Amino acid sequence: MLKRAFLATVLVLAPMLTLAQSDEELERGEAVYVKRCLQCHGEDGDGLGPAAERLNPPPRDFTLGLYKFVTSSFDADMPNDADILRMIQDGMPGTAMPGWSDILSEQEITDVLTYIKYFAELEGEPDGQTDFGTQITSSADSIAAGKLLFEDGDRCSECHGVQGKGDAIKKLKDDNGDRTWPRNLTKPWTFRVSNDPRDIFARISVGIPTTQMPSFADPASKKSLTIEERWHVANYVTSLAKTEKVVNPENFVIQGARVQGDLPNSPDDELWETAAHSTFMMVPQIVGGERFFTTANDTVTARALYNSDQVAIHLEWDDRTNSIPGDEKAASIADDEIFEDAIAIQLPRTIPAGMEKPYFLMGDTANPVNLWSWSSGSTETPETAGIIDATGIEGQQPRNDSGDFQATGSYRDGTWRVVMTRALKTGNPDEDLQFEEGRFVPISFFVWDGSNSETATGHSITTWYWLQLKPGATFKPLIYGILSALFVLLLLVWWSRNARRRDRSAA
Ligand code: HEC
Ligand code: HEC
Repeated sequence: MLKRAFLATVLVLAPMLTLAQSDEELERGEAVYVKRCLQCHGEDGDGLGPAAERLNPPPRDFTLGLYKFVTSSFDADMPNDADILRMIQDGMPGTAMPGWSDILSEQEITDVLTYIKYFAELEGEPDGQTDFGTQITSSADSIAAGKLLFEDGDRCSECHGVQGKGDAIKKLKDDNGDRTWPRNLTKPWTFRVSNDPRDIFARISVGIPTTQMPSFADPASKKSLTIEERWHVANYVTSLAKTEKVVNPENFVIQGARVQGDLPNSPDDELWETAAHSTFMMVPQIVGGERFFTTANDTVTARALYNSDQVAIHLEWDDRTNSIPGDEKAASIADDEIFEDAIAIQLPRTIPAGMEKPYFLMGDTANPVNLWSWSSGSTETPETAGIIDATGIEGQQPRNDSGDFQATGSYRDGTWRVVMTRALKTGNPDEDLQFEEGRFVPISFFVWDGSNSETATGHSITTWYWLQLKPGATFKPLIYGILSALFVLLLLVWWSRNARRRDRSAA
């Protein structure tokens, strides 16, 4: 009897006990949230914090209980705790969402997880899990099968483009009506989770909730894939990752190589493949003029060739859209007004004596710069190229006559390639940088994505790097070659005479 009464008390008290415990957890979670998350995700968890206005993609609205990167099944009622935990710990590359594992303790992270789930009253476990089956390891066959499925019926290429660069002509919006861009699958550093096949398998299976990327495990979809097929597609997507033309943080110098004869003036000339390339990181220009926080391009690849008269610089960058002002198709996928795609190289007017460089944003009066500029053109106007003299953002002077400067571009499969050429010496040292073999010249880049409404001071930039026209292999190495051959010959003569002498004294 007594025992039964005790049990009854425990049964009544038990839920209250866990509730009390979670209240405490909630309070601790709230403290972390207010300090670390509120500024973006908002006091009420609705994604409308004070910093949210500038962020693209915008911070998650926790009141909806919808999460993008999850492994519970596509039709489950909520994500796994582990999915949300992973995003909090690691952060989401390519967005403002930072990783917290170095800043918050494990306890603080679990507490804040409890707190953000509370905004949508998520409780318990999801009612379904993604079935990963048995992973198929990557192989040439699996990748080939995956490629077919990727393109079949425009399954993935519909949004991600045939080359996976996210260049399909389609306007995508999330549930909130905000513009989303399909990922450029050749740039794994922009993936919110990772390009590990297992993570990609989860994305394909679940889709990306709140965005237009659908589930391909959903049997109701005409484009659904079996588990085996999803592994092939995942292996294919992993194989798309660029391994060349990626940022190497130790590389600060574009090495220009000397060639005999004419320089290639077409961006698609095969000779460019022989030139060493350097890839640099681009960030939004948010310092001067009208600032633009959400530029589209994150890297630019440059190479240089020169001959006795001229230098040619080849520039290459991924751009999802060939932006053509006036073009109806281009207008239909843009959010706002479209401007031309464009690129500019920034060079100091004179080679600095030491390591100093002009102000990174178009120089200043003490250190003027030359901007070698190219714009893609519109339906009305052809591409244009010219030199702009600048002493800061306000002090830009396009030249009437840019001498022999030329630039031309070509757009294919989500990539722009542009070549700019100019004389090494223009005979006008007061206006133009005069190149000298072997000297290090500061160089930086500005890129505009016109479909992303980037124009004027709204563009992406790199910091200063260096361009060096490496002394040519034409005559110096020959002299060194002859000298060293002579030296070896003398050494041999000396050695054999000594040897003979040694022989004689031994005898
Ligand atoms: C500087 C702004 C910023 C701060 C601070 C911030 N977040 Fe975020 N967070 C974001 C943005 C932006 C996204 C949306 C990214 C996307 O949609 O791809 C996001 C998304 C998330 C997601 C969604 C993951 C998913 O799979 O959908 C979670 C969970 C999250 N944040 C938790 C937190 C927590 C917890 C904190 C505090 C410890 C925090 N965030 C602090 C900007 C921020
Ligand atoms: C209807 C358009 C659409 C289709 C079809 C589509 N995707 Fe996506 N995909 C998107 C969008 C939009 C995003 C970016 C979502 C975001 O983070 O806001 C995305 C993101 C991704 C990511 C990035 C994951 C990460 O960690 O950041 C991968 C991988 C991916 N898609 C693979 C695929 C594959 C493989 C297919 C075909 C099986 C496919 N997608 C079909 C629109 C689509």
